[in-house]
Amino acid sequence: MSPDTPRSFVAWMLSHGIQRKLIQRGARRGELISRLVMDPSLRENPFPAYEELRSRGPIGDNGLIRASVDHAVCNEVLRSDAFGTAGGQGELPAPLRWLHHRVVDPDTLGPVDPPSMLAVDPPLHTRYRKQVARAFTARKVGRMGDRVESVAADLLDRLTRELGTDTDFDLVDRYASLLPVTVIADLLGVPESDHGRLLELGNEAAVTLDPGLSWQQFKRAEVALREMHCWMQAHVDRLEANPGDDLISQLTLLGDDDRLTPIELRQVGLLVLGAGFETTVNLIANAVAMLDAHPEQLAWLQDNPDGWPNAVDEVLRHQSPVQVTLRIALRDVEVADTKFDKGAGILCYLGGANRDPAVFDDPSVFDVTRTNADQHVAFSAGVHYCLGASLARLEAAVALRALYETFPDLGISGAPQRRETRVLRGFEHLPVTTGARVVV
Ligand code: HEM
Repeated sequence: MSPDTPRSFVAWMLSHGIQRKLIQRGARRGELISRLVMDPSLRENPFPAYEELRSRGPIGDNGLIRASVDHAVCNEVLRSDAFGTAGGQGELPAPLRWLHHRVVDPDTLGPVDPPSMLAVDPPLHTRYRKQVARAFTARKVGRMGDRVESVAADLLDRLTRELGTDTDFDLVDRYASLLPVTVIADLLGVPESDHGRLLELGNEAAVTLDPGLSWQQFKRAEVALREMHCWMQAHVDRLEANPGDDLISQLTLLGDDDRLTPIELRQVGLLVLGAGFETTVNLIANAVAMLDAHPEQLAWLQDNPDGWPNAVDEVLRHQSPVQVTLRIALRDVEVADTKFDKGAGILCYLGGANRDPAVFDDPSVFDVTRTNADQHVAFSAGVHYCLGASLARLEAAVALRALYETFPDLGISGAPQRRETRVLRGFEHLPVTTGARVVV
């Protein structure tokens, strides 16, 4: 047993363990919101459960937590300054939150632990966001189009060469994960030799977005997070000594008034890195799975390549890569005739709101020509609205068009394997065949 194990066990109990017991108890009783959070059988297909929740009204309540799949409610909560993330541990009573803060090891902080941007509220959030947003303005992302095209072309060239006369490959390992990691690594000045290890570590740490982790899951993720922090610190030190034109170098060069502490800098860097590749990989693979199931829509896109951006929004709507996010009432507030006391939580099911029939006609139908597909909340809303939304849309549209131009007959060739994660919806493996590919 390592000397840190008791401390880490207390951190787990406070952040996941107690919650896990309560959710498991609810799930055993068949209670819907607990099952949505915990039941592995709903990971594959949570959509009927969302509809059951919808049939009960705009906000469901299991006595522990509220949940909503209502587009208007999710939008209102996410945009309201009466709700926030409350430091990631908002549901815990104040003394336990204090204890958690004392025991948690800063070298293992995850994407939803403060001071991650995702886990803090204004004004602290505004301070971090302002520094990072500079790298993601619409103009800057627009200028990245050529670079994303060339990354996609290089990956497909290499894949074609490596495949030789083979026709089968894993879309996730060989393409969908590599494109986003290459693009975000460019933005953060990360050398190519580190991409593979960071992908592995990011994959192991992604589970920390989920609530109610087991002690084993928590421990595994902690090991990965520790290595990521160590790597990021060395990366920051390297760039501080020898700055480039990447985002991390810019952050190290901030003046005294804006300067981030070493932990803040690592958390910002790791969030942008992880958010940059852990989500877009799912968007690309989810798109391939949906197009495989709807070959007529794929054929239409191949004839009408200008339709790719809208198709990407339809995948974001129908198979949202981030299914749910939590908000805590920062003061007493009422939403849709439901009273929230300060400290009460609500799960906003983005994947459910994106199938709200009040906004989307025949919401369960996948239709790449849907005219209001972009009204989804797959990138959240309000102050935490995804910073990389334009980049993710660009990457996915370029990645998919280039993929099907290279392999026009691409199709799924084996059993897809879903990711274990519940907040993130995507595939661990998606075996595909290039079909009747002409070998060059
Ligand atoms: C399909 C791809 C993506 C999806 C579905 C997605 C989704 C989201 C969602 C739902 C949030 C907000 C969570 C909340 O409200 O609690 C978020 C935040 C964020 N995303 Fe993305 N994201 C994607 C790609 C990216 C990319 C490519 C980057 C970086 C380049 C990125 C960077 C961020 C950052 C930094 C935040 C935190 C923003 C804040 O707290 O102010 N995301 N993303």
